[in-house]
This record gives sequence, structure tokens and C-alpha cells, in this order.
Amino acid sequence: MGGIGILPSKPEKYHYQPYNNINNNNILRIRSSKFTLCSSIFVFLAFIIFFFILSPSTSSLPTKNSWGGPEWEKRVTKSTRHNSPSGSPLTVLVTGASGFVGMHVSLALKRRGDGVLGIDNFNRYYDINLKRTRAKVLSRAGVFVVEGDINDVHLLRKLFDVVAFTHVMHLAAQAGVRYAMRNPNSYVHSNIAGFVNLLEVSKSANPQPAIVYASSSSVYGLNSKTPFSEKDRTDQPASLYAATKKAGEEFAHTYNHIYGLSVTGLRFFTVYGPWGRPDMAVYLFTKDILKGKQITVFESPDGGSVTRDFTYIGDIVKGCLGALDTAKKSTGSGGKKKGNAQYRIFNLGNTSPVPVSELVNILEKLLKVNVKRKVVPMPINGDVRFTHANISRAQRELGYMPTTDLEAGLKKFVRWYLDFHSPLKNKNVW
Ligand SMILES: *[C@@H]1O[C@H](CO)[C@@H](O)[C@H](O)[C@H]1NC(C)=O
Repeated sequence: MGGIGILPSKPEKYHYQPYNNINNNNILRIRSSKFTLCSSIFVFLAFIIFFFILSPSTSSLPTKNSWGGPEWEKRVTKSTRHNSPSGSPLTVLVTGASGFVGMHVSLALKRRGDGVLGIDNFNRYYDINLKRTRAKVLSRAGVFVVEGDINDVHLLRKLFDVVAFTHVMHLAAQAGVRYAMRNPNSYVHSNIAGFVNLLEVSKSANPQPAIVYASSSSVYGLNSKTPFSEKDRTDQPASLYAATKKAGEEFAHTYNHIYGLSVTGLRFFTVYGPWGRPDMAVYLFTKDILKGKQITVFESPDGGSVTRDFTYIGDIVKGCLGALDTAKKSTGSGGKKKGNAQYRIFNLGNTSPVPVSELVNILEKLLKVNVKRKVVPMPINGDVRFTHANISRAQRELGYMPTTDLEAGLKKFVRWYLDFHSPLKNKNVW
């Protein structure tokens, strides 16, 4: 998603941590071999009983993330129930639901009465507490987020067995431009393999859902014609992240062509706002400014400013809902195409690029802190110099019209940031 970095690298951050820390605790020592033998037999028997008698879904292999069982299915079903007095409500599977855009889109759908189920693998790319808190907010709104990976074919099939999803809003991704230089496989795993797995399961589902998926402005890569239009060339990616997002678009086209899946791609332009990602400029600058740290601002090699078409989350949500609402049904069934299906790609940007130095100026004003800056040339690490969306297609076909300028959006972000990080805040209220 809007993962074009415009920040100096911080290689000490953003590494995966092991899921379980092994407790090297030497206090508990085994005192009796007899006791050990007895307890081993007991544990073994308990294990057998659990897996062959009590386990509710013996057909699905146990995975790292636990799912399945009647209670779990009840929660899945309840989450996808409609609460819409009129119209024809959607039943949407939102991948990456505990992510930044995922949370906001899920909430918006639920609030207007659609059925929503989230799925998220809660990976450790950034602060897990933020993701857990987003999931808590969703849970309170009646949206259940299944903990699992889109690469888990058994889980996805199970979800489509339990619920007849009309739409998939695919937002799960490995985000971030510079982290790709250190962990390329993670991008291939989520953005390519995971997406293809999702398309596979979707094309086999009956009925097939319509797919709306997140792409990125980064697919425009080295394209220098502005503003970026959907028809412009996207075959010169400047980062591995961009290459995986572009690959996703190609796979989406393939499944549309062969299996009649209705697919809509949304190229997000630097999304920011409340609950935003901690690895992105708006968040990191705010954090560093409040700490009184010096801010590094990149300029392009020719001395020009680096600009971004910053897009407010509320506008992006409207674009996502517009895409879902105008998505036509897939045409295939039983894994076979019955006719040509809808195929679309839209830019979702703000159409007013702002220099990153101006972003810092606005934050300085809002946070009331004098910012120390250092301007340095942008290194070649996958970042592009500017992004600027032509949104006329989204305007025409989705009724998309961004209404929040950077200053108004940052005001909302800062208010959320200060509240969320307030030491006085009882975190349980979220
Ligand atoms: C924006 O894209 C549309 C096609 O969707 C095109 O007709 C128009 O000329 C583009 N505008 C600019 C300023 O490039």
C-alpha cells in the first residue's frame, strides 16, 4: 500500500522477531524421573485425545494460528451478518484488516450495514500493539478478525465454505519500500504468493466474489510524465516492493481473463491519517519532532524537492467503497469462465503533490516545536522523486473526490497521535 518511503533508512528497526520467545528458565528442574515418566505419558495421552477425539476440525491441519471449530465458525458467521435496512448489502472478506487502510475500510463497511470479516497475520513488520489495538476497535464494532495468513489455502477455503462472500477487499501486503532491500522474500511471499493463493481460492469459490485489491502508486516507477494516468507505462519499477505490486496487477489480469473474476485494482498514493503506519513519513516525522530530534529531508539529486501526493485515509476509504459498490459480479463458476468479466484499475490520490519540506513545516506548526532539519540528497534505494495522481477516471467511474487537504488531514492525524500515545491514556479504552 502507499509505501513509498521518503525517509532515511533506519536499519536497526523493522526486523521480524520470533513469534515465541523461548523462555530460558533454569529454575524449574526435573526432580524425579518417575514423575517425568508419568507426566510424559499423561501429556502424550492428552495430545492423542485432543487431536483425534476433541479437535473440532481434524480435516484441517493444525497451524501456527489457531482457527476452526464451532465457536470460531459462529464468530465468523456473526461478523458477516448484514444490518442494512435497505439496498443490497455486501458480504466482504477484508484481508489485512488490522492494517491501517484495512481497519478504516472494515469499519466503514460495518457501519453502513454490510457483513465484514477480517483476516490478518499480525506480522511483526511494525508495532504489533498498534495492530492488536486496531483489531480491538474492529471487534467492538462487530468485525471479527481471523488470525491467519492468506497463504494458508485451507483457511481461505474454509472461510469461503462458511460464508458466501460477494466481495474480497484485498489489502494484506508486505509494505515499505526500503525494507525490501533487506527482506525481499517477505514481499514475494505476501504480495505475490499470498495474492495468487487468494485469487486461486476466489476463482474456485461458488459463487465467485468480485475482487478489489490494493496496488500502489509505486508501479509508475521511473515514469516521468505527470500527473500519472492509469494508461501510463508501469514497466519500470524502481523498487522490489513496486515490482511485487506490479506483478499483483498482472496476476489479477490473468485470473480475470482465464476464470472470469471481476477485478479492480486501486493504486494508492501515500495514504496517511489516524491509525497510520509507524514506518511512514507522517508518523515517523511526528515522533522524531516530538522527541526534539533532527529531521532529515531528502532533496532530489538535481537539488529539487521531493514531493508526494499525500492522500487522506477518509478519502481513500470513500474510493474503496466506491470500487466495491460499482464492482460487477464475476462471471465464472466451478472454476470456469462464462463470459468476460469486469477489469479495472484506478488511481486513488489527492492530485495535489506537496514537497516533503512543506509536510515538515505543517507538522512543526501543529506540534508547536521548532524543527531542526538537515537536507541531504536522496540515496538510490527505491524511492522515487515525486508522485502525482490523475484521478479523473476514479472521479468518473467511482464518484471519487478527495476533500481533505494535507493540513486538515495532518490536524486529525496529530490529534490521534497525541491521544494514542498519551501516557495518561488507559489503553483499554481503545
Ligand atoms: C487524466 O486522465 C484522463 C484519462 O482518464 C485524460 O483524458 C486526461 O488528459 C488526463 N489529464 C492530464 C492532466 O494528464
